[in-house]
Amino acid sequence: MRIHTLNRIIVLLSLLLCSSPSSPSNSSHNTFLECLINHSSELSHPITSSIFTPNNSLFPSVLQSYIRNLRFNTTTTRKPFLIITASHVSHVQSAIICAHKHNKLMKIRSGGHDYEGVSYVAEEPFFLLDMFNLRAIDIDIETETVWVQAGATLGEIYYSISHKSKIHAFPAGTCPTVGAGGHISGGGYGTLMRKYGLSIDHVVDAQIVDAQGRVLDRESMGEDLFWAIRGGGGASFCVILAFKLKLVRVPEQVTVFQVERTLEQNATDIVYDWQHFAPYTDTNLFIRVAIDVVNRTQKGGTKTVRVTFSSLFLGDSKSLVSLMSETFPQMGLRQQDCIETTWIQSVLFWTAIENSTPVEILLDRMPQSLHSLKRKSDYIKVPIPKEGLEGLWKLMIEFEDTVLQGHPYGGRMDEIPSTETAFPHRKGNLWKLQYKANWNKDGEDVADYYIELTRKLHEYMTPFVSKNPREAFFNYKDLDLGINHNGENSYVEGRAYGYEYFMDNFNRLVQIKTMVDPENFFRNEQSIPTLPYDEMILLNGGYSKIID
Ligand SMILES: Cc1cc2nc3c(=O)[nH]c(=O)nc-3n(C[C@H](O)[C@H](O)[C@H](O)COP(=O)(O)OP(=O)(O)OC[C@H]3O[C@@H](n4cnc5c(N)ncnc54)[C@H](O)[C@@H]3O)c2cc1C
Ligand SMILES: *[C@@H]1O[C@H](CO)[C@@H](O)[C@H](O)[C@H]1NC(C)=O
Ligand SMILES: *[C@@H]1O[C@H](CO)[C@@H](O)[C@H](O)[C@H]1NC(C)=O
Ligand SMILES: *[C@@H]1O[C@H](CO)[C@@H](O)[C@H](O)[C@H]1NC(C)=O
Ligand SMILES: *[C@@H]1O[C@H](CO)[C@@H](O)[C@H](O)[C@H]1NC(C)=O
Ligand SMILES: *[C@@H]1O[C@H](CO)[C@@H](O)[C@H](O)[C@H]1NC(C)=O
Ligand SMILES: *[C@@H]1O[C@H](CO)[C@@H](O)[C@H](O)[C@H]1NC(C)=O
Repeated sequence: MRIHTLNRIIVLLSLLLCSSPSSPSNSSHNTFLECLINHSSELSHPITSSIFTPNNSLFPSVLQSYIRNLRFNTTTTRKPFLIITASHVSHVQSAIICAHKHNKLMKIRSGGHDYEGVSYVAEEPFFLLDMFNLRAIDIDIETETVWVQAGATLGEIYYSISHKSKIHAFPAGTCPTVGAGGHISGGGYGTLMRKYGLSIDHVVDAQIVDAQGRVLDRESMGEDLFWAIRGGGGASFCVILAFKLKLVRVPEQVTVFQVERTLEQNATDIVYDWQHFAPYTDTNLFIRVAIDVVNRTQKGGTKTVRVTFSSLFLGDSKSLVSLMSETFPQMGLRQQDCIETTWIQSVLFWTAIENSTPVEILLDRMPQSLHSLKRKSDYIKVPIPKEGLEGLWKLMIEFEDTVLQGHPYGGRMDEIPSTETAFPHRKGNLWKLQYKANWNKDGEDVADYYIELTRKLHEYMTPFVSKNPREAFFNYKDLDLGINHNGENSYVEGRAYGYEYFMDNFNRLVQIKTMVDPENFFRNEQSIPTLPYDEMILLNGGYSKIID
């Protein structure tokens, strides 16, 4: 029996390792691979069919199938030396234990929607732990809860809920192909934000694998770590296996609308007023603004700015039209602009899928379109004056190819203390701004050009947005805020982006990180750093905890 197993290992190893001329063998990688195979066979869930090395002909397609930013789909982008498509919890444990032992950098990918490709690109040699196979969804309508594994997409979660109930939903993002693992641990907001807050405000339990390879739940990980993975991102602390979510109630009928206004149709005034209205109105009402540049006429000619207001209202259209005409007549919302629909169909509306499409399209794991892209974010606490908006339009018309999105806060977001979860941007924020550039041409020069446009808009906005720190949303990953090279100064480097993403919660995140992963195994370009050794001692009682 033993000999049989050993033989099998040798056969598998020779299959996996015999290196082609194109893939120079790396004996340190081979030892790691051997460790994976040994370890997983001890746990009696063989890992070999989940391992892809670069000379496996399927390697490129496995890697590419969850690249969601084509900026990182180039021949020069560094590739992992190995991919593990975990199909059992023990594969995650083996990956962590062996990688820790053999000092390998691990990147963790669930849905692959990281704006900076942090889940599947790295500066140093690395391997990829891909979670897409772990995507079970287990709903219990009795208790109004659902366990979702990290590799499930938001579309799958929404679909599964609607399959069981017409009056339940979950507050999370609008893009159905986003993965639960990254999205929820990073905060997770969507159209139910003003009514119910963020995804993390409804996480009641979690299952993780920690730096020592232990499978833990909320009780065994403790409240500190459970706090950190709600908004602080999973990748700094552990591998998220699953979250237990509390569902929320929605009416059977909801209303959506989309209304467009150009500058010639008073868009500036309406956006200005929207800032005084959208964060304060009925929490059943969410109105997003999207701002882009279009031709003034079909023939082309001069450009104008177009503002598109998209909305979800948890109620019927008659109540909505009356609410709007009483409190926001400037938008001129008419009954015929409104569509009454179910909550699940409203998900299609938000992702620009024709309303009559069967909701099974939400199970499609391939996005409707893919581009190269760059995103940045800002928080607005004081309404931007009209002159400020006009200056912004001028730049956008000059650049042509940028888009802005504004998401109103207020409502439930104002009620949850900023220390309740690791996500800090709560009361006092009127809205969040996202800067977007998408492009479809290859080349570093092209990428630099578009990235620079978003930086210029961001720079222009400095006087109008949050200060000290200039806040940013962690799920809108932006490496312009600072990169941690994991060198001597990793804590100093980490402070640069850490305060913008997490504000005062950053300090607690660093303490928790230092306690649960003092060797900084779970690291990436913008992970939470550990405390420098000399500061550990200064930590109030923290150091003794750390060496426990
Ligand atoms: C088209 C599009 C639309 C979006 N819309 C929204 C929106 O409406 N609301 C919103 O809040 N955000 C939105 N986002 C941002 C999105 O929430 C984040 O990019 C999120 O991190 C993506 O999660 P993912 O699992 O798909 O990504 P990944 O790229 O797989 O992961 C993102 C980060 O999380 C880490 N991670 C992933 N899985 C795990 C795990 N199992 N354990 C530990 N760490 C893990 C990764 O290492 C990486 O650092 C959108 C992004 C895109 C591209
Ligand atoms: C990679 O390719 C080389 C060359 O063909 C081959 O010898 C080796 O076995 C391959 N490795 C794997 C893991 O398939
Ligand atoms: C093997 O990989 C390690 C990183 O895992 C790297 O440091 C080392 O330089 C590599 N060796 C060769 C020969 O490529
Ligand atoms: C894997 O197991 C084999 C057989 O038990 C052993 O010879 C080898 O040293 C092990 N390799 C690693 C990396 O643990
Ligand atoms: C990513 O790059 C590969 C190799 O160049 C290409 O075949 C593939 O189509 C690209 N993916 C997308 C979505 O464009
Ligand atoms: C724009 O605002 C002006 C002044 O408030 C108003 O008279 C005009 O009708 C508005 N135009 C549109 C298209 O709403
Ligand atoms: C705008 O007009 C130009 C010609 O001036 C044309 O090339 C372009 O495609 C038009 N854009 C849109 C969105 O219609």
